[in-house]
Amino acid sequence: MHIYLTGFRGSGKSTIAHLVGSALSRAVVDLDQELERLAGRSIRELFEQHGESYFRELESEALMKVAGSPTPSVVALGGGAILRPENRRCIAASGLCAWLRVPGDVLCERLASGRSDRDHRPPLTGLSLADEVRVLLAEREPIYEAVADVALDADRPAEEVASALARWVRERERVP
Ligand code: S3P
Repeated sequence: MHIYLTGFRGSGKSTIAHLVGSALSRAVVDLDQELERLAGRSIRELFEQHGESYFRELESEALMKVAGSPTPSVVALGGGAILRPENRRCIAASGLCAWLRVPGDVLCERLASGRSDRDHRPPLTGLSLADEVRVLLAEREPIYEAVADVALDADRPAEEVASALARWVRERERVP
């Protein structure tokens, strides 16, 4: 079974995936990086050159590929990878999913201060950062909640979140 990490941009999925991977001695996959590798270009370029729906197609393909890998991995999903029902079915069928829950104001602070992140992450709407986070979070939170087997408050140090998640996984996977 894979361990999938979901949550909004800036919720710490990649950092926490690496920490959990080390704690559990498991391979770590970053779905965005995998997609960039398969496409041979950056996410920003994919959005700019082909639009979001083409990006979502590739994201689904990358997810199916990762899900089918026989190596149980900790997988950091992109923030919108849970939008497509087929992706949610794939996640549920191939692993456990943790939602890294972070309040909108904290996400805004993190995203506004991460300049390199902002350069890297294409805008998803024509809205200001604060409005984009507010609107998309309202749409997505019910989906994150529905897809997740566990929700972890992630507005605290990444190490704390990772050890809570590693504990939860060990507990869940303990053979009776
Ligand atoms: C997206 C989040 C990004 C990336 C793409 C779209 C989204 O991943 O997949 O820019 O729709 O929220 P991160 O959550 O890793 O930034």
